[in-house]
Parts: sequence; C-alpha cells; structure tokens
Amino acid sequence: MSEPNFWAVIPAAGLGRRMGGERPKQYLELEGRPVIDHAVERMLLHPRLDGLVIALRDDDAWWAGTEFADHPDLVRVAGGAERCDSVLNALEQLARRAHAEDWVLVHDAARPCVRRDDITRLVDCLRDDPVGGLLGVPVHDTIKRVCADGRVGSTVPREALWRAFTPQMFRLGMLREALRAALAAGVAVTDEASAMEWAGHAPRMVEGHADNIKITRAGDLDLAAFLLSKQGGRLY
Ligand code: CTP
Ligand code: MG
Repeated sequence: MSEPNFWAVIPAAGLGRRMGGERPKQYLELEGRPVIDHAVERMLLHPRLDGLVIALRDDDAWWAGTEFADHPDLVRVAGGAERCDSVLNALEQLARRAHAEDWVLVHDAARPCVRRDDITRLVDCLRDDPVGGLLGVPVHDTIKRVCADGRVGSTVPREALWRAFTPQMFRLGMLREALRAALAAGVAVTDEASAMEWAGHAPRMVEGHADNIKITRAGDLDLAAFLLSKQGGRLY
C-alpha cells in the first residue's frame, strides 16, 4: 500500500457569538493580520501536510481578502450549522480525491498560536497509531464541582484530566464514519475526538503547549498577541 497523505481541515464557518461584534472572530486583527491567516499559515505551509480544505459560510464577506485565499493547495467548501457539520462537509470533499487511509488534521480557525513543532510531534506520534488522537495539556488547577446554589459540592481529582486542543488527527475514512453516525444519532459532538469516542475508539492524547489557546472572548486577542510575540514572528 502506498504511504498515506496528510490533509489539513480548518472549520472557519462560525459566527463568534461569544466574542460579539459584526465581524466573526477569525477575521479580527491579530498582530497585523486576521486571526485566520495565522491558523491557515501554520497548517497550509507545514512541511508534513499536503493540502488544506477550509469550511466557510456561503455569505462570508472577508475570506476573499485574506492572504491564502487563492493558494493552489487550498480548497474551499461550504460550512454547516454546527462545527461538526462544517468538518463533515470538508471530509466529504476530501473523500473525492483522498484515500480512506489518509490522515486528516482538523484545526480550529480560532487557534492562531499552535506551534509548528507541536503539529510535527502530533504527526510523528500518531502516524503509526491505529486510531489517531489530539493535542492537549494536563489540567494544573484544582477543579471544583459547583452546585446550583453557587457553593462547592466537591473537588474533582485532576490527575487524569486534560484540556483538549486542536489539531485532532484521524484517518479520513474512520473520522467520516464516526461523524456521520454521531450526527445521524443526534449526538452533540464538539470535537472530532468525541465523535471517535462515541464510535468506540480511544484517541491518543499528545502533549502540546498551553499557548495553543482558542480565541473565544474579547480579552483572548490581547493574550494571543502576547503569546505570538513570545513565539517570535513568522514561522515559515
Ligand atoms: N465553526 C464552523 N462552523 C460552525 C461553527 C463553528 O466551522 N457552524 C468553527 C469556528 O469558525 C471555529 C471553530 O469551529 O474556527 C471552533 O468553534 P468556536 O470556537 O465555537 O467558534 P464560533 O462557533 O464561531 O464561536 P461561538 O461558539 O462563540 O459562536
Ligand atoms: Mg461555536
């Protein structure tokens, strides 16, 4: 069998409701470029990856003005109502030209700070894995379960708790089936790993870095700018 290819998928069809404002958060400025340009650059130009599919809203008025809009290794598809619908649309597009055994790395458009070395480690750790997995970091804070009255009910043991990030890397065929089945069953999946878990697989957790934040609320942009400045400018 030939060596599998590695594809990137970026869901970028969200409205950024928690951020507010008329422009979706992936198009807000971060260090002189839209957030999405940072995220796309880190995946599209990564030497281990062969091409990228991006899911965008049909009425997206901003993508055409971004840096990689006309890049030859990038294909655009329509986004869906939920993140998982957007990802599945991208996988259906990929399935027309890629093999079921190929790897897909799904990365949020709203995570502009993912380190190139963490993407490399994810690929190297998982390329021979039967299932695939995701980047994350262990939880360091003490975790409390809080009751409806605002009082602490208990302290949750944190030894086995990790925060889940992206990219999340799975085989095209397995991920497509898991997402299709979860959607058909009406299961709410917020990331690819939860669809795979629901299908009975056990994704591998690969330790990344905590600077791989997701831009969610207004203050996150300042934090991301600080983290990018610490990383030291352009990557490729
Ligand atoms: N996303 C998508 N299609 C959707 C919803 C979300 O492609 N229907 C994308 C977002 O653009 C983002 C990623 O999925 O890159 C992670 O989602 P999230 O952080 O929740 O972004 P939004 O849904 O845009 O934000 P909010 O939930 O605050 O509205
Ligand atoms: Mg959302």
